[in-house]
Amino acid sequence: MAAAVPGLLRALLLAAAAAALDNGVARTPPMGWLHWERFLCATDCSAQPRRCVSEQLFTEMADVMAAEGWRDAGYQYLCIDDCWAAPTRDERGRLQADPRRFPGGIQRLADYVHARGLKLGIYSDVGNQTCAGFPGSYGHYELDAQTFASWGVDLLKFDGCNSGSLELLAEGYRRMSLALNKTGRPIVYSCEWPFYLRPMQQPNYTEIKQYCNHWRNFFDVYDSWNSIKSILEWTALHQDSIVKIAGPGGWNDPDMLVIGNFGLSWDQAVTQMAMWAIMAAPLFMSNDLRRISPEAKWLLQNKEVIAINQDPLGKQGYRITKDKNFELWERPLSGGAYAVAVLYQQEIGGPQNFSFPLAFLGNGLACNPACSVRQLLPSSRDWGVHSWVSSLSVEVNPTGTVLLRVGAL
Ligand code: GLA
Repeated sequence: MAAAVPGLLRALLLAAAAAALDNGVARTPPMGWLHWERFLCATDCSAQPRRCVSEQLFTEMADVMAAEGWRDAGYQYLCIDDCWAAPTRDERGRLQADPRRFPGGIQRLADYVHARGLKLGIYSDVGNQTCAGFPGSYGHYELDAQTFASWGVDLLKFDGCNSGSLELLAEGYRRMSLALNKTGRPIVYSCEWPFYLRPMQQPNYTEIKQYCNHWRNFFDVYDSWNSIKSILEWTALHQDSIVKIAGPGGWNDPDMLVIGNFGLSWDQAVTQMAMWAIMAAPLFMSNDLRRISPEAKWLLQNKEVIAINQDPLGKQGYRITKDKNFELWERPLSGGAYAVAVLYQQEIGGPQNFSFPLAFLGNGLACNPACSVRQLLPSSRDWGVHSWVSSLSVEVNPTGTVLLRVGAL
């Protein structure tokens, strides 16, 4: 049967199959802020007025994002996660925000956010309840997509709890994607489809990319080194199937940046920032931007590192070698350049040196016949011009990462 399909047609069909969701957004990994990891499901505003999931939390965050360089660094999407909704739909069957915590509703918040040059994200679930037990979108996909669009929402995180079955899970993710497209409003569609599928079924990433702008593959990030480590290890172990699928319009999502919170040391925060850039990950911070250290701010707003994350070629990086406790990762960039990360996993002792031949990089092409090497993290420093036959030696702290940019000459 396949032999009967003419070659050109087959090529066209295959090209169409690998295409990303064509809604014009997420041509580079989306960047913003998402409340979940830091603020979870705090709903008691009388006990925790500055920490509960409320209009005030988001307007305060919007003010800081606009005033303190976050928006200008690229963090554009201010996103609400679970626990925003009232426990029941309104008399017309529409989702509604909890009236005490969001007195102006989502639309007023969207206007506020847009007036500051930002975009608003919201959250719902493919099943009949969200993971935290709020109303889900099952049976209401079209209506909810229209409601979100009418409020001026720019991103939907669509969770996969309580879906009932794998068929309903897939069907729901597809139907919500089509419903969002039908609204005519460009809305970034953030999925957890492969994560909920994985225990039972291998995800079909070609299909997922046709419907989603980014997708979670693995467990929720926690504010801990263990969590960051496990996300990186999972990604490296599955890189053969997930790296090639990432590109403009569709990205693997290793979950939020937790830099600026409580659980990571400075070197571990550097590792998260460097590796999220290598992985072409969506950059959604979950922290309290109203109170954040100058160091965390420097790291999260680092222009050169963000430029790697946002590189227009849109290729995800991968691990090249793991040598004892050192890992060497690279990411091809536009203009023949490469981002290179050396991660040192040992959790005892002090800094150690790692040497590698530059001919290791880019299958021998990254530094051929010569290249310029610049260190971006943990601090910026020029390493000058190197030739193809030379080796580089970098000193890395335990659980830290050295991030380099290797440019073709
Ligand atoms: C799931 C998701 C998290 C968060 C919570 C909210 O666990 O993976 O990112 O959205 O639900 O309940």
